[in-house]
Amino acid sequence: MPWPWISPILEDNPYSRLRFSGEALPTLFRIAHDEYHNTEIVTEIVSFSKILGPGMRLAFVKGSEVLIERMCSWQQKVNVTPDCVSQRVAAHFLKEGYMNPHLSMVCDFYRPYLERMLAAMSQYLPPYIQYSKPEGGIFTWLWLPEDMNADLLFEQAKKHKVTFIPGSKFYPSGQEKHNCLRLNFSFSSLEQIDTGIAALGSLMHEFYA
Ligand SMILES: Cc1ncc(COP(=O)(O)O)c(C=O)c1O
Repeated sequence: MPWPWISPILEDNPYSRLRFSGEALPTLFRIAHDEYHNTEIVTEIVSFSKILGPGMRLAFVKGSEVLIERMCSWQQKVNVTPDCVSQRVAAHFLKEGYMNPHLSMVCDFYRPYLERMLAAMSQYLPPYIQYSKPEGGIFTWLWLPEDMNADLLFEQAKKHKVTFIPGSKFYPSGQEKHNCLRLNFSFSSLEQIDTGIAALGSLMHEFYA
């Protein structure tokens, strides 16, 4: 059945398979497939970077065949020779059914990092900072008071060896919000998470005094 009234959706989905607690949420591709019996409207791209290996520079795609053919052809033009060895390794990994057990191992590995990050934020961040408590992925999102600028805070934080991505970077240009930021919890050690969040908390206190 044609869907003339809906634009195609590109689902950029490197994170949803990293789920540590709560109910597993369906992808847009899955909703289109199961509830609307449509495998064309949503094309889902899943990078292997966060679930198998960033250095592999690989992803897989599900969705519209026409679109996927064009994406492959464009990708070949850009890369000239994609790395066939890692493609075969990843394909074999999937085919042999190693991915699901691997994902559950990766989630068991990352879960304590999220828990430590949330515990440190609750202990060290000032009460006027609001933050998300994610059930998956590798980031938390912080909301600062309206008049607190995360871009300026970033410049101060860098001097104390604490970094984050100012939230403004995630908005279309001209529509930025400056009182938000993104923190990653998958890279640093548990001890570094404590030290980093404690330092960030004191900086916020000073910055907002
Ligand atoms: C939302 C999102 N999509 C896609 C990517 C791209 O992943 P890669 O280029 O490593 O495959 C990233 C990487 O951080 C991301 O955050």
